[in-house]
Amino acid sequence: MLINRVILITGGARGIGRGIAEAVLEAGGKVVLADLDNTSLEHTKAELCTIHAVPEQSVFTIPVDVADATSVGAALEAALDNFGQLDGLVNNAGITRLGPNLDASVEDWQQQLNVNLVGTHLCCRKFAELQISAGKPGAIVNIASNAGKVGYPNMAGYNASKAAVISLTRTLSTEWAEHGINVNGVCPGGVDTPMLMEVAVSVGARIGEDPNELLKTMVPAQMGRHIQPLEIGRVVAFLLSDAALIIRGQSINTDGGDTPY
Ligand SMILES: NC(=O)c1ccc[n+]([C@@H]2O[C@H](COP(=O)([O-])OP(=O)(O)OC[C@H]3O[C@@H](n4cnc5c(N)ncnc54)[C@H](O)[C@@H]3O)[C@@H](O)[C@H]2O)c1
Repeated sequence: MLINRVILITGGARGIGRGIAEAVLEAGGKVVLADLDNTSLEHTKAELCTIHAVPEQSVFTIPVDVADATSVGAALEAALDNFGQLDGLVNNAGITRLGPNLDASVEDWQQQLNVNLVGTHLCCRKFAELQISAGKPGAIVNIASNAGKVGYPNMAGYNASKAAVISLTRTLSTEWAEHGINVNGVCPGGVDTPMLMEVAVSVGARIGEDPNELLKTMVPAQMGRHIQPLEIGRVVAFLLSDAALIIRGQSINTDGGDTPY
């Protein structure tokens, strides 16, 4: 499905980003893992190469801060230099700042918007500039969230940032269709990652419950279990492929049926 395609994944060092990398390798592609957490990148690369029995040249790692335009520019150019091509981009890096909106600081709001929304915009724009100047098509998948559709309490800034990612996905799809760049998104929920544990810790502290017990309840009702990062990754890999060219500007729910719209 993605034979020899090169896909750059932000936030690729762990969690959903790592699951997406696994799915891309499984589909025959090569990956660029780009993350703020430089120390985890090499460890994740080693694990992926072992699990998928791929040569280490199939995985390239690069530190990046998606909220910084200079850092984004350098990372995407380094990835292009390394592989000689880029075919896809997954904007997966994201953060949450949890708590009642009555207590939320402007800094918390700005951090979430900077990473989740402006970071997605900066990576999309740099990727599109590179593809357009090379005369090459491409595919972008933005990792939004069902939180961008549902008004979950105590995460107003996060919800707003993800709703904006859904909107950005729609807009870029219409703007860049003429350049052969297909832009879609997914809206996960209840995925077993360190971020979900962060949510359980925050909610647990507020209501006086054990976060590990709480985490067990944070599962899609129709599935009765957490979603695994690789399951999200396989949907993303499909959206990156030519088989998904008729899907455009969509943000598809990948939350086990929790969100019906
Ligand atoms: N876990 C879920 O249930 C869930 C649900 C819906 C949406 N999401 C979204 O999926 C994406 C991945 O979430 P996750 O659960 O794997 O989170 P995670 O916290 O486990 O991993 C996020 C990764 O992004 C990296 N990152 C953070 N800020 C960055 C920056 N400025 N530049 C580059 N990298 C940065 C982190 O170092 C980390 O490796 C996020 O966008 C998140 O909002 C997650």
